Formats: sequence, structure tokens, C-alpha cells
Amino acid sequence: MKKFIIIKNRIRNIKAKIIVSSDKSLSIRWALLAAQALGRSRAYNLLDSEDVNSTLVALKKLGVKVTKNKNYCEINGKGLNSFSFNNNTIINCQNSGTLSRLICGVLAKSMKSVILKGDQSLSKRDFSRIIKPLNLFGVKTKLKKNRLPLKITGTNFLRPIEYDELRGSAQVKSCLLFCALNTPGITKIRAVPSRDHTERLFKFLNIPIKIKREKKFDIIKIRGENQYNGFDYKIPGDISSSAFIIVLTLLSKNSKILIKNVNVNKSRTGIIDILKKMNANIKLINKKNYNGEDIADIFVKSGKSLKSINCAKEMNSRATDEFLLIFLVCAKAKGISYFNNIGELRHKECDRLKFASNFLKMIGIKVKETSNSLKIYGNPKLELNGNYEIKNYIKDHRVCMMSCIAALVLGGTWKIHDSDSVNTSFPKFFSKLKSLGAKIN
Ligand code: S3P
Repeated sequence: MKKFIIIKNRIRNIKAKIIVSSDKSLSIRWALLAAQALGRSRAYNLLDSEDVNSTLVALKKLGVKVTKNKNYCEINGKGLNSFSFNNNTIINCQNSGTLSRLICGVLAKSMKSVILKGDQSLSKRDFSRIIKPLNLFGVKTKLKKNRLPLKITGTNFLRPIEYDELRGSAQVKSCLLFCALNTPGITKIRAVPSRDHTERLFKFLNIPIKIKREKKFDIIKIRGENQYNGFDYKIPGDISSSAFIIVLTLLSKNSKILIKNVNVNKSRTGIIDILKKMNANIKLINKKNYNGEDIADIFVKSGKSLKSINCAKEMNSRATDEFLLIFLVCAKAKGISYFNNIGELRHKECDRLKFASNFLKMIGIKVKETSNSLKIYGNPKLELNGNYEIKNYIKDHRVCMMSCIAALVLGGTWKIHDSDSVNTSFPKFFSKLKSLGAKIN
């Protein structure tokens, strides 16, 4: 694939029905759970992307049998803590924060050491967030300045812990849940709400887990060392990938779209609630439940004038991966939008808060950025005709895709480098855009 793309034309008159890539969070969780199950598991529609493939390669390195067939991926698990690998096995998590954090929980009881590595972006990210609780469980860790590479050595003497997860990070919470799965007794996590796929999958697998929702926290109790059997799962579409298509449609003239079969788990649909508050025409239809997850088709229609938002911070973890797109919509909305407590965006695949404020300034939008907030002065008349270049963003897939959407709706001539970064989460991104009429070279 070419390493950059050029977009010179706007898109308009979108009228389509499409499906997007499968859910990344669920794909990675299915693989990690299947590897610890007893017996055969199959995933249909498993996302075929770099993050998920890194997960499958990692599991193979741990001695797990993984086979990919035309219609499904199969994993033959031998049960909890049944991995077979050499001491100091190196696992390259590439770009995947989710894999690198969650696998630490999966390895909590493995007595042999594993060394986790990552690409340039992952090697800049913070791992202190999982080290403290892992050590409390009794897991040994070694890393420099809280960055990868991380050497992790599990223990036969895991002890249940009580832990407060205050960032609203599903990766940290899920790391703890996977640790707890391998730990005797009851682990108690008091967590600021975040995506809850791991909890839902645990329930689906009859793993003993209790969740009490309090005003600001979820109190999660899990009894560990309960073996479960292999399971089949059909992965729905990813709301985070759908978000690019939603915003593209919303900001394009005379457009409407139906995105089929998307996971609309409440802990992920912050973008829909935020955009609706901004007056967007978005509807969820054909709602159904599949194995504990909520699925629906998403209908979007452009044309309504958009207004600014003062975003409640309770939304933050429900829209964590979508903020770049939400900021783009704010740039076209009437009024001043405000986002607070969004410092976590600095800890994503790149510093997305810094990127966003530089990007918005580049397209002529006034912003005020602090260490954990952003004010955006919207301009509904915003249209571009200059030359724009997006580079040096350490291949953050969402930066690349948001920039493409901006190019397609705002005009101007855009050169977007490292376009292969879309393979992290949405490998068919460009072909989907082309199917909607986009001209991309
Ligand atoms: C994810 C959790 C989120 C999100 C990431 C996927 C997950 O990260 O940004 O893309 O699958 O658990 P944090 O939990 O660090 O907020």
C-alpha cells in the first residue's frame, strides 16, 4: 500500500447502506478469553486488523492453537493458565494498547517471564497504570520509566485485591478482571464507568461476576479460578469505526446513510449522544441483544444546523476514541464548545489533545487548550481551499482517518501520510469511503 494519500475533492449526496469493520475491543477480548477456555471456540466476523492479528500471534507464541478459516477463526483452549512457552518469550504488541494491557492479566499466573514490546507509539505510552495493581496481585514486573519493554512474571500465589480504578480506563479495568479470573477468592474493583465488554463476556460465560452501579462508580466483584468452556461468538460492527462514517455523512451535503449491525453498547455510544445534543439527526433502529451486547443499525441524515456543546465529563469514557471526530463537528457547529477532564486523550496512540488543537488551528479554528480541557470556537461557514499536510503523528490510526473525513467534508487539497495506519483498526476504511463516492489517490 502507498504510504500517503491525496484528497482533493469533497464528497456529497451520500445515499447508502453499509457495514463497517468488526468491533476491535470485542475481537481482542474474544481471542484472549478463548485462549483460556476449555475446548474449541470460534469467532465469526473477527476483525482482520493489525491489532487483532498481533493478539493472535501473541497467543500462538504462548503455545495456543489458533487457526483462521474462511468464515471463522478457531482457538482451541486448554483452560486457565495452560500456556506453554519458553522463559523470556518476547511478545510484540505492535500498536495495541488493549492487547498489551489485557494480556498482563492473562499472564498473571504464568511462572515463566514474558517480555512485552511495542511499536514507536506504544513504546511512548504509560504502563504505570497497570503496574501498581498487578504488583498488588503479586505479579512481578520490570520496566523503565513506566514504558515498554515490560518484563512480566506471574505467580502461583496470586492474592485477590480491592482496587479503585479512577481513570475510567477499560484497559486497566479489563487487565484487573483478567487477573481476577486467575486469582482465588473475590477481587473487588471500584471503577469509574468505562466500556464494559469484558464484564458482559464474563456474564455470558457464567463466570461469577457481580456489578453494582453506584452514582459515580461501578462496584465489580469477581470470584476467580472458575473454568469456563469454549464458546462461539459473532462479532458485530465497531461503533468507533462507524463514527467516521457518521461524521462524514453528517457534515456532507444532502446525505443519509444506514450503518448495519453495529455494537451500540451504552458504554460506547457517547458520540451518538453528544452529536444528538448538537442537533444531529441520528437514530438507532432494529435494536436487538446478542449474547449480552446491544446491536442496532445506525441511521444518519445531514441537513440540520449543528450547535455547540458543553460536554459533561461523564461522557468522556463513553466517547474516548471519538473525540477527534467530535472536535471536527464542533469546528462546524455554531457557538463555543467546551470539553473538560479530557487529559486521557494525551495517553492514546498519540497525544490526541495536542494533535486536535494544532489541527483545528491549522484549519482556521480558534481553540483554547489546557492540560486537560479544550475550547473550540465553531464556524458553521468553515470551508477550505488551501493545501494541508498531515504527517509525523506516530501512525495514530484515528488521526489518519479523522483527517481524511476532514478533507472530504471541508475541501482543500490534502496530503495525508502513513495512510497504512488505518490497518490497525479499519483496514477497509479507504474502500468503504470510495464506495460512498470519495475520490482518494
Ligand atoms: C479500549 C479501551 C480504551 C480505548 C481503546 C480500546 C478497550 O482505552 O481508547 O481504543 O478495548 O478496552 P482506555 O481504556 O485506556 O481508555
